[in-house]
Amino acid sequence: MFKKRKEKALRKNNWKNEEVISERIIVSHPMVTEKVKMLRLSKEDLYFVAYVKPLVETHIDGLVNEFYETILQVPNLKKIIEQNSSVERLRTTLKKHLIELFDGTVDERFIENRLVVAKVHYRIGLDPS
Ligand code: HEM
Repeated sequence: MFKKRKEKALRKNNWKNEEVISERIIVSHPMVTEKVKMLRLSKEDLYFVAYVKPLVETHIDGLVNEFYETILQVPNLKKIIEQNSSVERLRTTLKKHLIELFDGTVDERFIENRLVVAKVHYRIGLDPS
């Protein structure tokens, strides 16, 4: 199901002309290129991000548990979770998502995965506020 969603998003965003900004930053969408430049995100930053990945993996269970402990204390958020999924299921997807953030590569796959997550939250009525 997720594969189909991603393929659709890829077609829609037309990622044909990938720009290799550095060996770890390969993007084509102008919106993303602009943000990478604005943040001055460098390949050295991304090497560092990848370097700390094992540390994140070591602590991932604790991080995720704490995240849901906090979320479940907010009645409105608890209700959204119960109506759309379950904490057990979300623990797995959040773990995967957080670990992927530390891959240290920003490319089409990375951006699309982030967009899928954003769209999922938008659909369930969770806005950035
Ligand atoms: C930094 C904050 C958050 C991150 C990184 C995050 C991450 C994720 C990820 C990776 C998924 C799976 C997306 C997919 O289908 O591929 C997901 C789904 C979901 N998240 Fe979050 N989440 C965050 C905040 C929240 C909060 C505050 C809630 C509280 C209501 C929430 C509720 C949900 C629900 C209900 C789903 C499942 C939706 C569905 O499959 O229909 N998330 N989230």
